[in-house]
Amino acid sequence: MDKIVITGGNPLFGQVEISGSKNAALPIIYATVLVKGKCVLENIPDISDINCSFEILRGVGAKIRMLSRGTYEIDCTDVVCGQSDYELVRRIRGSYYLLGAEFGRFGRARVGFPGGCNFGVRPIDQHIKGFEALGGRVTTDGGYVEIESDGGAVGSNIFFDLSSVGATLNVMIAAATAEGTTVIDNAAREPHVVDCANFLNTCGARISGAGSDVIKIKGVPELHGCTYAIIPDMIEAGSFMVAAVATRGSVKITNVIPKHLESVSAKLIETGATVEEFDDAVMVTAGKTVKRTSVKTLPYPGFPTDMHPQMAALLCTAEGTSYINESIFENRFRYVEELRRMGARIKADGRVLAIEGGTPLTPAPVIATDLRGGVAVMIAALTIPGVTEISEIQLIERGYDNICGKLRALGANIKKISVPDEIVLPQAK
Ligand code: EPZ
Repeated sequence: MDKIVITGGNPLFGQVEISGSKNAALPIIYATVLVKGKCVLENIPDISDINCSFEILRGVGAKIRMLSRGTYEIDCTDVVCGQSDYELVRRIRGSYYLLGAEFGRFGRARVGFPGGCNFGVRPIDQHIKGFEALGGRVTTDGGYVEIESDGGAVGSNIFFDLSSVGATLNVMIAAATAEGTTVIDNAAREPHVVDCANFLNTCGARISGAGSDVIKIKGVPELHGCTYAIIPDMIEAGSFMVAAVATRGSVKITNVIPKHLESVSAKLIETGATVEEFDDAVMVTAGKTVKRTSVKTLPYPGFPTDMHPQMAALLCTAEGTSYINESIFENRFRYVEELRRMGARIKADGRVLAIEGGTPLTPAPVIATDLRGGVAVMIAALTIPGVTEISEIQLIERGYDNICGKLRALGANIKKISVPDEIVLPQAK
């Protein structure tokens, strides 16, 4: 079993380059199934969710080869429908984009239910609503989602009950080569939705309005291959911004789109930090103290839910009591128990956390409860002059490319160690 060991107490100083966006790369990788030809994708992060997706697509006939670090050629000419590996699919959330891609290409689909971080129930009813609006007959049986249709997806109007990132992307992918025009209302506005629309348009799709809450997709008969570079990961960037402030350091974060980080920058400025924006970088410097603040997570351009755990770790070191209202997921609070092991004084009341700062955290053996919760305990550990061991780090490696190397380059005393899995001795009779 691997662990991350952090000896904290050092402010982070220096420069870090952000990798490509996990949540943009995933829909785009599955969208290549629509193309009976070769696509070259650049700025792909080396993380396990991406590598799992490559394994899933290779398993259904895609030919994927790495041209250089972060650049892959994907040829889906010979991809078959409905044959994806059930166990691989259930390892991650992003595998559900294969549904939209198969439906768009073959007029039918059969994919196991997705997995992903355990935030309570993570329904896909809006995805199904979208596929049905496109003429799909959707059944869910035996752990699979199946879509049938008479002759393929047909453009239609869809009004989502809530702005779902995944459902917006899945329907956009399915509608790109549908017969006729699709209008998605109450669409998600995240940068990764825009990135996937831009990729599809580069392949010959006719999508407009991405980034607003109304997206129009004029179906085209087929898409051609292209070369496309994925946008930087705004959540990885935000995580390093928060770590810089939490350790009372000063870090230049490069290869970012500052506009995507505005809500995080604004919150950090409220805590007393300074954020200087450049064309493709931000310079974050902690204030003399960290002031309390309140956060409510919202769909983009609001404060991202994927930055909530990291912010909680920072606010444990603030003066006074801060609040976080998690409005997107009903329960992404499992990481709070781990922060409490480190001495955090956090009270949960429904979806609102009250975080009492002012008491230094202390080292404790902790685990990554999920991807962003894992980074939260890393940030907490970086603030503590002592040794903290973090287990279950495979959950962190799902979404962060070389996080230990990047933090070490900023002055963190951090290493990854392998310890033999505990040998469980049979109970003595
Ligand atoms: C994507 O998840 C991201 N995952 C999540 O990032 C991110 O937290 C989330 O968007 C919100 O930004 C990927 O892109 C792989 P949603 P997704 O559909 O698509 C409910 C990370 O750490 N909902 O926008 O699952 C849902 O339960 C991960 O990188 C329905 O009710 O998010 C949630 O409460 C964690 N029915 C809310 O909507 C549906 O059909 C938003 O979910 C779909 C969603």
